[in-house]
Amino acid sequence: MKNLDDLLSEGVRGRRVLVRADLNVPLDGDTITDDGRVRASLPTVAKLTAAGAQVVLTAHLGRPKGEPDPQFSLAPVARRLGELLGSEVALAGDLVGESAKATVNGLIDGGVALLENVRFDSRETSKDDAERESLAADLAALVGEGAAFVSDGFGVVHRKQASVYDVAKKLPAYAGGLVLAEVEVLRTLTGDAKRPYAVVLGGSKVSDKLGVIKALLPKVDKLLIGGGMAYTFLAAQGHGVGSSLLQEDQIANTKALLADNADKIVLPVDVVVADRFAADAESKTVNADAIEDGWMGLDIGPRSTELFAEVLRGAGTVFWNGPAGVFEFPAFAEGTRGIAQSIVDSESFSVVGGGDSAAAVRTLGLPEDGFSHISTGGGASLEYLEGKQLPGVQVLEGDA
Ligand code: 3PG
Repeated sequence: MKNLDDLLSEGVRGRRVLVRADLNVPLDGDTITDDGRVRASLPTVAKLTAAGAQVVLTAHLGRPKGEPDPQFSLAPVARRLGELLGSEVALAGDLVGESAKATVNGLIDGGVALLENVRFDSRETSKDDAERESLAADLAALVGEGAAFVSDGFGVVHRKQASVYDVAKKLPAYAGGLVLAEVEVLRTLTGDAKRPYAVVLGGSKVSDKLGVIKALLPKVDKLLIGGGMAYTFLAAQGHGVGSSLLQEDQIANTKALLADNADKIVLPVDVVVADRFAADAESKTVNADAIEDGWMGLDIGPRSTELFAEVLRGAGTVFWNGPAGVFEFPAFAEGTRGIAQSIVDSESFSVVGGGDSAAAVRTLGLPEDGFSHISTGGGASLEYLEGKQLPGVQVLEGDA
């Protein structure tokens, strides 16, 4: 697939370049609580501006319902981008309307504009090909003749959406540096991973991870299970889990996985339980087979953290997706911190698979450079590892 360097060698001075980035960051009011995705998008934008391109960024924030909704405005992101780039980023008041046209027309060489949330237009996520194509045509018309498209939003390449997939057919399309780097890392994980290969999965639902668990089990040496989904595994072993998260309808699937992979799957041996879901809940550590009624598991316990650490410290390759507990509450963050620290301490090729685990690394103050790669795409990296085709990558490869 053609990439950013190919585009730069064609020359971009004075040329408009539409860049799809993943700037979907967590917000508290209008404060960005983790700007990792904004920072990860900078190198591609900076290379283009340094080469004199007029950069038009398009991105989504959250899941608005296909119409403008101020709580999902990209305004905080435009501000943060401007701070990090050291030059103002003009935010258009709409996506392809009058404001966007005026903003794009006002761009100077080396300037950057951000279009308002692409999901304010219902055509972006439409299942109807013609609707998505009409938005893609509007985006292409906005940047005009001679423009190019750079796909750099790795976190959305698993979505067949107008600004990710269809627009790549309307403009000369190139993979951005972030998409290239992420895909290369994931190829390593599915190809010739250095042994032992350990995967740590957390998160709340077994049903969300069943596909990736089934795809990974034949390839890995150990699969460590934490987070809310561990309780469905414990229930499948016949243990009571009190009021912990439990997917009863997944117990049969989980039992089958355990029966076929007893040598690979590692479950918590102790857990930190709480009397309610709150930062200041009463809590205690109990054996994983001794959770009483009325108590809910919110973290793995210290013996489990050490059990996981032993595997991680000796691993050649580690992939980690999903926190071990409710790390947003300090009383239930130790399992996640312990897992992250053991990965940092290991000599392994280590990949953090986006989403909450990437946020946990930064929130808990762990050194980002202690990991070989921190992905910006949780869903996208899991789908890749599951063996699914990613439409946003396929289209760049000319296979879509
Ligand atoms: C993400 O947050 O994983 C990406 O930005 C994709 O968002 P989505 O799941 O709303 O498509």
